[in-house]
Amino acid sequence: MVSRYFTTPIYYVNDRPHIGHLYTTVITDVLARTHRLLGDDVRFLTGTDEHGQKLEKVAKAEGIDPIEVANRHVETFRALWERFDISNDDFIRTSDRTRHYPAVAEMVRRIAANGDLEVSRHEGWYCVGCEAFYPDKDLVDGNCPVHGYKPELQSEENVFFRLDRYQDRLLELYRERPDFVHPPTRLNEVRSFVEAGLKPLSVSRTAITWGIPFPGHEGHVVYVWLDALTNYISALGFPNDEAAEFRRFWPEAGGAGARAVHLVGKDILRFHAIFWPAFLMSAGLPVPSQVVAHGWWLRDSRKMSKSVGNVVRPDELVASFGSDALRWFLVAEMSFGQDASFSDEGFLTRYNADLANGVGNTLSRAVRMASDAFSGKTPAELCDDNDVLRAAEVQVAAWREALAGYRFEGATDAIRALVTAIDGYVTSKEPWKKVKAEGVTPALHRIHFSVLEGLRLAAVMLSPIAPKTAEEMLRRLGAPKAAADLREADLAWGGLPLSAPLTVGAPLFPRADAAAYFARKEKDVSDSTTPAPSPEVPAAAAPAAAPAAPEAPAEPARISVDEFFKADLRVGEIVAAEPVPKSKKLMKMSVKSGDEVRTIVGGIATAYTAEQLVGRKIVFVANLAPAKLMGIESNGMVLAASLPETGAPSLLMVDPSVPSGTRVK
Ligand code: MSP
Repeated sequence: MVSRYFTTPIYYVNDRPHIGHLYTTVITDVLARTHRLLGDDVRFLTGTDEHGQKLEKVAKAEGIDPIEVANRHVETFRALWERFDISNDDFIRTSDRTRHYPAVAEMVRRIAANGDLEVSRHEGWYCVGCEAFYPDKDLVDGNCPVHGYKPELQSEENVFFRLDRYQDRLLELYRERPDFVHPPTRLNEVRSFVEAGLKPLSVSRTAITWGIPFPGHEGHVVYVWLDALTNYISALGFPNDEAAEFRRFWPEAGGAGARAVHLVGKDILRFHAIFWPAFLMSAGLPVPSQVVAHGWWLRDSRKMSKSVGNVVRPDELVASFGSDALRWFLVAEMSFGQDASFSDEGFLTRYNADLANGVGNTLSRAVRMASDAFSGKTPAELCDDNDVLRAAEVQVAAWREALAGYRFEGATDAIRALVTAIDGYVTSKEPWKKVKAEGVTPALHRIHFSVLEGLRLAAVMLSPIAPKTAEEMLRRLGAPKAAADLREADLAWGGLPLSAPLTVGAPLFPRADAAAYFARKEKDVSDSTTPAPSPEVPAAAAPAAAPAAPEAPAEPARISVDEFFKADLRVGEIVAAEPVPKSKKLMKMSVKSGDEVRTIVGGIATAYTAEQLVGRKIVFVANLAPAKLMGIESNGMVLAASLPETGAPSLLMVDPSVPSGTRVK
């Protein structure tokens, strides 16, 4: 049994958590859950980073003690992780005087004993956001390269850590253990940085008091990164080198034994892959096994703006679709290591494709059919030679490989592929026809067994990613088990109990009506006087399986304003047009709306030539589901009056001065 230690960064306690924090925490949770399932001895740590200038400033502004600010905010993180089913075994706070302070003091003492500390005067640009000094050359137009605002020029006498002495040992570490940083491209970045030359690093501060007193230097507190990084071992019982957890989960010298893996975003890789191993080397302690860095979540590929109604508000998404849906989205959407864009559109599309139509629909259909055929029970006979079994073997292996290589999105691909294979199998076997023609035969039992067993395996593979959904799937399939109790044996074919009760339930993921969602949101935004929120994480999350409220049916004669606002009408400019070959009526148009150009196919070729259309401003429905007309995908509908008697289209006139993209209402 391998001991595996997974950590998230500890989050700045007074920052409001957002999608980026959630992502790091969710993928660490996915790893922890996967390795527990595979039978490893797992410890999963998260926590909060509570010292530093940022928090001290907030406390000062409010006239209260910094610890009060920290205490107030820490609950936000704890509650959030609970809502998202984060299965951390421990939660460390750097303000913890019993667990954390002695560890940091001991690190400093050991580093000092090794002769790596020196006092000297220091002047530099300090970014409070990063809690780090930047040399002139790293500033972008005089601003912090991460936060984009001007750092403060600070000058003080500090204790310096001789980071420069560790240049060779660090390069040797990267050479000997090229997987120390993952993905490999990030190792190259780190290596280049070290090769360019390391300078002594300031590790004490006198400008602040909210920190851990620096042993041997009254009036100094420990630099927040030296303080914060130490959390990874203080939580294991260091400075007691004999502490059971420390011995069990921190690698021995040379990286043997336990595996300690730090999951971080790319912005804090340098601290983890350079400073941290150097501190540890200096203190005579083994370095972690690996630092794994992910990319950033960007807000939207489009500019966020109230009037367009594309404000990113995952809280609404989670309230409607559940925390598992957001966990799935985050894992599936980001190609690990690269940046990804968060948008409501992306979320809804993926939700409908992967969860509502994919997992959810396939499960409902399969359980319903089997329940009808076998009076509410799972089949009485198993099958161990069929296409689903073969697909499952391939996909379970792909899933394992993806997770072992931190390709989290590969794990969701494997689940999707298995569900698609199950769908294909059902379609080819047509059990609904078989039961009508032949009645309940042993063959029918075997077909349904294959389908339900395939879904059971999909649920097990899903359990680290969307634990609530996995549990609900297993319950419905007659194989109830808590996600935390699943083990490697559950990934093998044949675990579905025979003649066990099936549960037919409401759709796991009711289909999302994207148009209604955006109309509701647009209305909320225009009703609201508060500024558009950033992509923060929800204050409340519905359970995964909680169905979204169904849309009220529209009244036949009259519609409400809300209903009308479901239609997103826009002014567009036709920038190109050509008649669709072999069609009398259809015209293919390129319509510019704001910065975007889309294709719309409209039945106006009987009344207009392409030349008459190009350059003309029109009104079109922007949020219509795409439709294929004569093989061309049309994204919207141009509005035209239908003339009496002939029915000939007459395009609505728009004042040419109205900019394209303007909303019509
Ligand atoms: N307190 C330090 C970490 C100390 S660890 C010894 C810190 N905290 S943080 O709250 O600012 O960030 C924590 C994590 O969130 C980092 O991994 C960071 O990369 C991640 N993210 C913050 N914004 C992000 C995005 N927009 N996208 C993805 N992750 C990013 O840094």
